[in-house]
Amino acid sequence: MSLQRLSFASTNLDKLLGNGLETQAITEFVGEFGAGKSQICMKLSVNVQLPAKDGGLEGKALFIDTEGTFAAQRVYQMAQAMGLDAEKILDGIIYSRVYNSDHQILTVDHAFKICQEENIKLLVVDSILSHFRGEYIGRESLSERQQRLNSHLHKLLRIAQALNLAVIITNQVQANPQAFFGDPMRPAGGNILAHASTHRVMLKKASQGLRVAKIIDSPYLPESETYFQITTKGVEDAAPKSRRDE
Ligand SMILES: Nc1ncnc2c1ncn2[C@@H]1O[C@H](COP(=O)(O)OP(=O)(O)O)[C@@H](O)[C@H]1O
Ligand SMILES: [Mg+2]
Repeated sequence: MSLQRLSFASTNLDKLLGNGLETQAITEFVGEFGAGKSQICMKLSVNVQLPAKDGGLEGKALFIDTEGTFAAQRVYQMAQAMGLDAEKILDGIIYSRVYNSDHQILTVDHAFKICQEENIKLLVVDSILSHFRGEYIGRESLSERQQRLNSHLHKLLRIAQALNLAVIITNQVQANPQAFFGDPMRPAGGNILAHASTHRVMLKKASQGLRVAKIIDSPYLPESETYFQITTKGVEDAAPKSRRDE
C-alpha cells in the first residue's frame, strides 16, 4: 500500500509537512489554548473527502472529540466557503464524543472495524491527553497512565498502517522547568507521546492575528516553520506584513 498525502489546501502548510499530511503515520499538533489545533482538525476532516485531484483522499473522517469543541456549524461554514455541499461534508464526518479515558480507549479499540467499513481516511483524536491528564494525578499513577497511553497510541498507529489512513492527534503544551535556553514550553505527555508521534508540529499565536506552525520533531522533515491564518474557509496561507508595507 503506497503512502498517500492529504492536502491542507495551503501551500505553506503542505510544504512544511512535505506535501501534505501523510497516511500510515501519526501527526501531532501541539499548542496552547486557541492556537488553532481544533480548526486544523476540522479543516482536514473536510479536505479528506475531496477528490485526489484536489488534494483529498476520497474518504470519510472519524472525529474523536474529548473536549467537546468540535463545531458542526464551523465545518458547515468551511465547506460552504469552499463551494462544497456542506450537508454532504457533514455526513462524511463520523463524530464520537468521548467522556473519559476508558471511553476513549474503547472507542479506538472499535475504530478499526468502523474505519474499514466506512472508508475512513482520516482519524482525529482531539485531544489525546486531556482525559488522561485529568484522571491520573500524582506521581504514583504516572507509570500506569503512561502504559495505557502507550498501548492506546500503538493501536492508533496500527490502524493508520493497516488501513493506509492519516491519524491526527492534538496535544497541549506544558512548562518545561529545565529550559534555561530555548522554548520554555514543551509538549505534554513525555517520551511516550514523543516516540509515538511520527511528526510533531508546534502551533503558536503570532502578531497581526497570524499563527506559526513549526516542525519540532520528524524522522525526515527539516525543522522549518511557516505562517498561516484561520479564516472562514479554514486555514489559509499568510505572511506577516513588514512595517514598510503599512
Ligand atoms: N470562522 C472563523 N474565522 C476566523 N477565525 C476563527 C473562526 N473560527 C475560529 N477562529 C479562530 O480559531 C481560534 C480557536 O482555535 P482552536 O482550533 O479552537 O484552538 P485550539 O484547539 O488550539 O485550542 C479562535 O481563537 C479564533 O481566533
Ligand atoms: Mg481545541
